[in-house]
Amino acid sequence: MCGIIACRTAESAADYLRIGLRRLEYRGYDSVGVAIQTATGDIARVRTIERIDTLDRLLADWSGPAFAGAGLGHTRWATHGSVTESNAHPHNDCEDRISLVHNGIIDNADTLRASLTIAGHSFDSDVDSEVLCHLIEDRLQLCGDLFEAVRLALVEVEGSWGLAVLERGTGRIVVAANRCPLLVAHTPDGAFATSDIAAIADWVDEFRVLEDGDIVDLVSPPRWSRQEGIGASLPPVHRCAWRSTDAELNGYADHMAKEIDEQAELVSGALDSYGSRIADGSLWAEYGMEPFERLHVVGCGTSLNAGRVIANLVRRLGGIPVRCSTASEVADEIAEPGTLSLAISQSGETTDVLRALETPAVCETPMLALTNSAHSALARRADAVMLCGAGPEIGVAATKTFICQIVAGTALMISALVGMGRLTRAAAVDLVDDLRYLPDRLGHAGVKAKCVVPRIAEEISSASGMIFIARGNGIPYAAEGALKVKELTYCWAEHHSAGELKHGPLALIGVGTVVIVVDNDDPRLRANIAEVQSRGGRIVSIGRYADSTVQVASIPSAPWGPIESTVPLQILARSMAMSLGRDVDKPRNLAKSVTVE
Ligand code: AGP
Repeated sequence: MCGIIACRTAESAADYLRIGLRRLEYRGYDSVGVAIQTATGDIARVRTIERIDTLDRLLADWSGPAFAGAGLGHTRWATHGSVTESNAHPHNDCEDRISLVHNGIIDNADTLRASLTIAGHSFDSDVDSEVLCHLIEDRLQLCGDLFEAVRLALVEVEGSWGLAVLERGTGRIVVAANRCPLLVAHTPDGAFATSDIAAIADWVDEFRVLEDGDIVDLVSPPRWSRQEGIGASLPPVHRCAWRSTDAELNGYADHMAKEIDEQAELVSGALDSYGSRIADGSLWAEYGMEPFERLHVVGCGTSLNAGRVIANLVRRLGGIPVRCSTASEVADEIAEPGTLSLAISQSGETTDVLRALETPAVCETPMLALTNSAHSALARRADAVMLCGAGPEIGVAATKTFICQIVAGTALMISALVGMGRLTRAAAVDLVDDLRYLPDRLGHAGVKAKCVVPRIAEEISSASGMIFIARGNGIPYAAEGALKVKELTYCWAEHHSAGELKHGPLALIGVGTVVIVVDNDDPRLRANIAEVQSRGGRIVSIGRYADSTVQVASIPSAPWGPIESTVPLQILARSMAMSLGRDVDKPRNLAKSVTVE
């Protein structure tokens, strides 16, 4: 969703902000803007509701005083207030003394706006963020120091924020965070702050993540105010795993195609890194978690689908009761003794997941995080963290993180079951042997799918929608296939347990209705396929059967289900979207990291 970059550099801030904003583009945005100190000390503000190309052009055409080294940039994904230039960030105070960018939500914005208006402030936008600007302006008039003004203002604020404020004249930048990601880095190029390391990865090797309540003056060395008070140690240093080359396409047409192709190698690398630690239980032992009698998986979207695969495996191999919850609906659930909560989120910043951590069902149990971001809020709040190791995923629709979450979760849970005496080492060794074939199977599925699927996708892309069916451990894959089609094509796609068709959804089937079958070799699927065909439905089957439309080699009895079907399902969604002229890397209305409830 929204993205922040701030910098104090020796060269023109515009050059850094332009690159940084491009790196934030993948998160999704509907307006973009910068505020840059000029050689005369004023702040130049440029905003647009068009694409970053337009901002680039506006900056290139800038005819005012030269840009100096301090600046802020922001990509906005509208939540409060419509998509207009005046609602775009940065926002200014009444006297244009400060510019501010903000991610998050100010819960008491209406109250603050009312009192600030009475105090004489005038507002230019509908967005909650602007109240921060006027509140800081107000405190700045009293104390004359930007850092102190930010500190005093935030005492009044309820809600979440990652913010950066630039002061006219001094070029000083103060940043602050509360329940929103923000990190700072000091480098030979200058000092940077951002909500997403991708934005500044070109210049940064190490960074620190702000914790809730932190306020930092972007001077070198940084002045840092912590909730714990004077003397509190700084947050730990993280190494930057992003490289600027991660954002390159390397000959691929889009990031989604590249990321689909990376999957086999990533799985291979992950399995190599776990080595014998899966089957001997030592991988689990490294996490120092207590044995568990129940597993509660919490996540959203694709991550929840991956979690369902992992839960199915734990139930089947370990005989352990499992439950899977949509993170935004966990509030009413009841904590059960002996439960391990497994919170899954590729970004580790999904607000629904972070809120779920505060509910009794999760916070009263040990919590293991499975994430792609070692420095995320989820990772910081977990009792233990398993990284899924997918590397940067730029396509908004998750692909490789899904596969990597499943493989990491599968490895850890097999190891846990051995460690807890619920699975023999010999059985685990056999499972690991099967997992070892997975990279080849995924690669093979990709080769096969690229030959067959684009033609099918072309044929069915005019359908207004489609149904995905599966049984047992194939169901999460059908759910993921339907999610990918929805996200990328903007056509409806729903998934059902195949057994449920006859209880209602069969009414949707008419001549030509497309039904995608994720075939995990469950013999009952044949009857379900016949039900569809007898009503004129068009079957596209993905599985091992000789008569499958798209054959993929999978292990029929694998406790992780027909994971290989993921590749043709991803290619199907991408191919359909391309036939329809959609932007597969940046689908409409979607954001890479969903930081609102
Ligand atoms: C996946 O394609 C989607 N963009 C979305 O469902 C995503 O999986 C969901 O928002 C959860 O994100 P997270 O893994 O970062 O928590």
